[in-house]
Amino acid sequence: MSRDAATRWDRRHAARGLQPRPPAGILPALAHLLPAAGRALDLAGGDGRNSLWLARRGLEVTLADVSTVGLELARQRLQGAGHPLRTVQVDLEDPADPWPAPLDTAWDLVLVSDFLSRPLLQAVPAHLVPGGVLVVSHPTRRNLQRHPHPSARFLLDEGELPTLVGELEVVHHDSDWRADGRHMAWLVARR
Ligand SMILES: C[S@@+](CC[C@H](N)C(=O)[O-])C[C@H]1O[C@@H](n2cnc3c(N)ncnc32)[C@H](O)[C@@H]1O
Repeated sequence: MSRDAATRWDRRHAARGLQPRPPAGILPALAHLLPAAGRALDLAGGDGRNSLWLARRGLEVTLADVSTVGLELARQRLQGAGHPLRTVQVDLEDPADPWPAPLDTAWDLVLVSDFLSRPLLQAVPAHLVPGGVLVVSHPTRRNLQRHPHPSARFLLDEGELPTLVGELEVVHHDSDWRADGRHMAWLVARR
């Protein structure tokens, strides 16, 4: 990612500011498949809407993102709700470093919501504890039928997601029009 792109995300986060936002629909919908304790990593977690849900569930959350503004909003969101949050500024699209060293822990849960990096997803299995879960929510190409953005290169092919998670056991995968009006693939896979 270029410095320009990081600045663009800083601007987007700053424009939205700290406002109440519901978590990604996958979290409450598939909560029964997710651990309620242990270490969680929210990759490209932005302003922390999902980290807050994970922390309320009982997980010890680390949020990684390239945007310093997003990280600051996330810290404020969780602090305001009385939950600790560890934040890490990282570029998750560096081809020379698909899994940055500060994230080098064995995680009980890794969440990737609305961020598509295929090399990053492929690196997750090696960083889960046995029994740990990967949770992914991302729009598919069918989303273009109703929304011009994100453009095709930022979208998943129909049925692609399970092919990106290596040896993990897929315990849930589906794609559908969701309550927020978008066509999303949802996946939960266990090591
Ligand atoms: C669409 S937002 C999704 C945020 C969050 N996961 C959610 O579901 O609300 C995409 C996020 O990816 C972050 N991002 C974009 N490029 C990145 C990169 N190269 N490395 C790390 N984070 C990145 C942005 O700052 C932004 O917070």
